Amino acid sequence: PTNTKDLEKQVAAREAVKYIRDNDIVGLGTGSTAYYAILEVAELVKNGLKIKGVPTSEHTASLATSLGIELLDMNSVEYIDVTIDGADEFDVQLNLIKGGGGAHFREKIVASLTKKEIIIADAAKKVDKLGKFKVPVEIVPLALNYVKRALTKLGGTGEVRMKDGSPFITDNHNVIIDADFGLIEDAAKLSESLNQIEGILAHGLFVNLTAMVIVGKGTEALTY
Ligand code: A5P
Repeated sequence: PTNTKDLEKQVAAREAVKYIRDNDIVGLGTGSTAYYAILEVAELVKNGLKIKGVPTSEHTASLATSLGIELLDMNSVEYIDVTIDGADEFDVQLNLIKGGGGAHFREKIVASLTKKEIIIADAAKKVDKLGKFKVPVEIVPLALNYVKRALTKLGGTGEVRMKDGSPFITDNHNVIIDADFGLIEDAAKLSESLNQIEGILAHGLFVNLTAMVIVGKGTEALTY
């Protein structure tokens, strides 16, 4: 990489892969930060480590395959040793907003299967309170209007995410509303409330799923 932000993503990724051991099953995240971790995992494989990857998106699956990383289906593993993924926001309690790339459903399953979930990010993603970044909510399309009203009752407003003039469709063939709840006072409570709404496949609040967040700052890696 040439610009500072990408260099810092690489610094964080290099620090994170130090937690991977030979024979580990490794969760592979999605997004421009996780990209650098996938490159590093591919290096470990080239150096002879017997690592297998569990991808969090179709995009990550094809990238990992093209780099020679052997993949496992998330249905075929009982647990994942280490996952390295990105995030859109994190707070000091290590709660996250994810899903800017629309991959948060698979990312959440992978995180839930993972013993050590490591999030890599740039410093700008650290916030006092989550919620400036809208909460991505993946919705089964036929429940869209029901869910939209349910979100409004919880104080969340938002529109269906678009891409090139059409609704953005996830890997799971669903749509996303990016919901604005303002700054979120109690992420655990909002997460629980969203979990109660039928028709939501997954939302982007990740509460109590993260073991550590690693941030690149210059050439140094800071760990939260
Ligand atoms: C994908 O759905 C997200 O959860 C990503 O992890 C998130 O959007 C971070 O992406 P960047 O690393 O590109 O900022």
